[in-house]
Amino acid sequence: MERTLVIVKPDGVQRSLVSSILGRLEIRGLKLVGLKFMRVTPELAQRHYAVHREKPFFGELVAFITSSPVAVAAFEGPNVVAVVRSIVGATNPAASAPGTIRGDLALDVLHNLIHASDAPDTAQAELALWFQPDELVTWQRDTDHWIAAES
Ligand code: RTP
Ligand code: MG
Repeated sequence: MERTLVIVKPDGVQRSLVSSILGRLEIRGLKLVGLKFMRVTPELAQRHYAVHREKPFFGELVAFITSSPVAVAAFEGPNVVAVVRSIVGATNPAASAPGTIRGDLALDVLHNLIHASDAPDTAQAELALWFQPDELVTWQRDTDHWIAAES
């Protein structure tokens, strides 16, 4: 079963949107398998955003995600990486469809509320970066068989 990493960024925490944002993923039927609230060190931020190191907005990204605590979650489900990306919406909220998290709740590309892994292989690498193995919980949910055949 596929897993993905979700981060409610500092703007989501400061705007008291943690439960609203994670709740949208939870009510879709995705299973929570990891959850924590933490400050992000510059080292972790730089490793997380390493793919953007050469971009002009890299410094701004690192400064932003270290500016205030974040809520970090791991979700599990069939095709969870693509499903979560579709719930999150386009990177720039100005172009995010209504009904998506960014399309409903955000306006600005830096303040776009949430990070979600963009592919199964990056999800695995990001989960290993943000969670210790024993912080990810494999568990049986009683409703699993009402939600997806392959749960
Ligand atoms: P994320 O990684 O946060 O889930 O978002 P994403 O995949 O939709 O976007 P990505 O291309 O990975 O960019 C990471 C974050 O960098 C900021 N960004 N700013 N100024 C710009 O042109 C620009 N482009 C991207 C956004 O905050 C984006 O979430
Ligand atoms: Mg990304």
